[in-house]
Amino acid sequence: MHHVPVMLDEVLDFLIVNSEGNYFDGTLGFGGHSSKILQRLGNNAKLIATDKDKDAFDFCKEKFSRDKRITIYNTSFTKIRTIYLLENIDGFDGVFADLGVSSYQFDNKDSGFTYREEAILDLRMDKTVGEPAYNFLNTAKEEEIANVLFQFGEERKSRRIAKRIVLERATASIKTTTQLKELVEAVIYKQHLNKTLSRVFQALRIYVNNELDELKDFLNQTVKLLKTGGRIVILSYHSLEDRIVKEFFKHEALSCVCPPEIPVCVCNKESSLKILTRKPVLPSEEEIKSNPRARSAKLRVAEKI
Ligand SMILES: C[S@@+](CC[C@H](N)C(=O)[O-])C[C@H]1O[C@@H](n2cnc3c(N)ncnc32)[C@H](O)[C@@H]1O
Repeated sequence: MHHVPVMLDEVLDFLIVNSEGNYFDGTLGFGGHSSKILQRLGNNAKLIATDKDKDAFDFCKEKFSRDKRITIYNTSFTKIRTIYLLENIDGFDGVFADLGVSSYQFDNKDSGFTYREEAILDLRMDKTVGEPAYNFLNTAKEEEIANVLFQFGEERKSRRIAKRIVLERATASIKTTTQLKELVEAVIYKQHLNKTLSRVFQALRIYVNNELDELKDFLNQTVKLLKTGGRIVILSYHSLEDRIVKEFFKHEALSCVCPPEIPVCVCNKESSLKILTRKPVLPSEEEIKSNPRARSAKLRVAEKI
């Protein structure tokens, strides 16, 4: 299982405020961050981790089987509140998420996350939830497909690609990564092809996993579950995710959201977070050289007031 954890030192330095505290890693993956978190924690600390992906869950169950401080759930990080209640804890000292997919998921030819390998076009991290991407492409209206490609992939040729998908599926239903790749190839200039394919696959992945709504839901729950002084640490890899994190932190840091024309505050809002990274922290040149996946990473951190 190959996945190099991104911005490891930066994440740990921000996350761990109390070595005997309660921590949550929402995106366990292959345990790269979690194993280092555990190394920094004492005997009475607790680490709760989730991953939607069954392979990641099975791998980590085994990997951490001898460490009583960690509890692992094969579910979405949006279950954080339910898990907090189940585990009967008094709040989190730190909550971490390293968004998106792992290198293992991306490189594994059976996952269908990449157009570089022939596979079933599923794209779900948890195969028991929602619908596979091929299902969506075979049944959705042309306009819906175009909207997904535009909204989640920022793909400017979204209408042209959607039209081709609908034309193609009238004769043979779409099932594989190669079929999607070929029909994109048929309508996009060769020099733009790789970037377009990345955007198309990314858009479908975000859509079928409901990634942006899950992120918002997770952030909203988390802020209420942190102890005072507890930290929320998020690593994101594309602008749509980063914008959500940035806007959420900004909103939670505000102590008033009244329109400027109102002279006295009537909203009674209180700030719940202090932003610790005014600008996102980026990986060093050195890290990018040794781990190209880190290239687009952005780290944002806030602290519960
Ligand atoms: C970038 S990887 C995490 C890698 C991990 N930090 C490590 O160092 O091994 C992201 C992981 O999060 C999982 N994931 C993505 N969205 C999730 C969600 N909403 N809930 C739970 N797991 C999620 C993916 O299945 C994947 O294994």
